[in-house]
Amino acid sequence: MDSVPSFSAAKEEKPQLGWFEWLKGWYRLVLETFFEKYWSRHLPNPLPLPPLNGITSIVTGSTSGIGLEIARQLAEAGAHVVMAVRNTELAHKLVQKWQTELQNISSTKFTRIRSKICKHMEFQKQTFEYSYQQRGRIVNVNSLMHAIGFVDTRDLNFDKGINHFTSLRGYSRSKLAQIMFNNVLHRTIPKSAKINVVCVDPGSVRTNVVRDLPRIIQIAFQALPKFLYTAQEGSRSVLYAAVYNEIWEYCEKLKAEEWLVCPYVACNCKTMIPSNEAQNLEVSRFVWKATVDTVGFPNDAVDLLLSGKEIQWQYSDLVVN
Ligand SMILES: NC(=O)c1ccc[n+]([C@@H]2O[C@H](COP(=O)([O-])OP(=O)(O)OC[C@H]3O[C@@H](n4cnc5c(N)ncnc54)[C@H](OP(=O)(O)O)[C@@H]3O)[C@@H](O)[C@H]2O)c1
Repeated sequence: MDSVPSFSAAKEEKPQLGWFEWLKGWYRLVLETFFEKYWSRHLPNPLPLPPLNGITSIVTGSTSGIGLEIARQLAEAGAHVVMAVRNTELAHKLVQKWQTELQNISSTKFTRIRSKICKHMEFQKQTFEYSYQQRGRIVNVNSLMHAIGFVDTRDLNFDKGINHFTSLRGYSRSKLAQIMFNNVLHRTIPKSAKINVVCVDPGSVRTNVVRDLPRIIQIAFQALPKFLYTAQEGSRSVLYAAVYNEIWEYCEKLKAEEWLVCPYVACNCKTMIPSNEAQNLEVSRFVWKATVDTVGFPNDAVDLLLSGKEIQWQYSDLVVN
């Protein structure tokens, strides 16, 4: 297993995504938008979940869209759900609503909604405890838009004037960088820790996500409601990656084969390989290092956390014991 690399910059600076890769990315995106419902016609909606009593799930961004659906369904299945959100008032209202709905359906199910609402990083300690004691999964909600993204190592945050920022460029870059970060995380967590990392494409889903994207994409989302997933449909691949054993086995297999790229699940719950650019390991190490530096983590943060050591970081003190 790789020790955590310490790269300060990618060696070869590729100025932009090749036009062929860019076209291929758009082609895949358009295909997904029009055919995702057809490709996933075998999937039940909602996705059936096994009883999850005794399992703790931390769901970020769970006050709307896909995250909301995921939190609701996990809680319904009996999981202890930690809602990591910025709008805690809205989260409390949601929990009350779910409790009332379930009470109306079945009084026995009522006790199953046991959500805890945390703001910002309060949930860090629970993340570690759960992951350390049991088989844990870190599921990142990604997007096929990563395939049109490009991480320019000379101008990572669009602040050097080399790249002009647009919301589309920012979004696709962030999704590509998310896979790249997870390529390293996947290799850095030792097999013995029994924690797997997976990225997931939820598909094109009717949510608020497009509010910051270009007008043309907002119009396309409004004009194509029949083709797009509902939030419940979009939650299926994420829940599948989070809960189903098949994905655990897949992650273990990739780890055993020393696979360099993070496992990826497509919107139809099948495994897939991310774009060629997402497999660039040199840039992946650069993204890892830049991220770790940004939050002020030491290079060996994963090892320290797994051994229960204390980590000082930029925004607050994270103490694990
Ligand atoms: N919808 C799609 O077609 C699609 C496709 C591929 C990937 N995704 C990904 O799926 C994930 C969920 O998106 P969604 O479609 O469900 O969109 P959404 O309805 O806009 O939900 C986004 C959630 O994230 C929270 N959030 C946004 N910015 C945040 C910030 N800076 N700090 C903390 N919380 C923040 C929001 O909280 P507030 O309620 O407080 O705003 C909201 O709960 C995103 O990662 C998105 O990129 C979506």
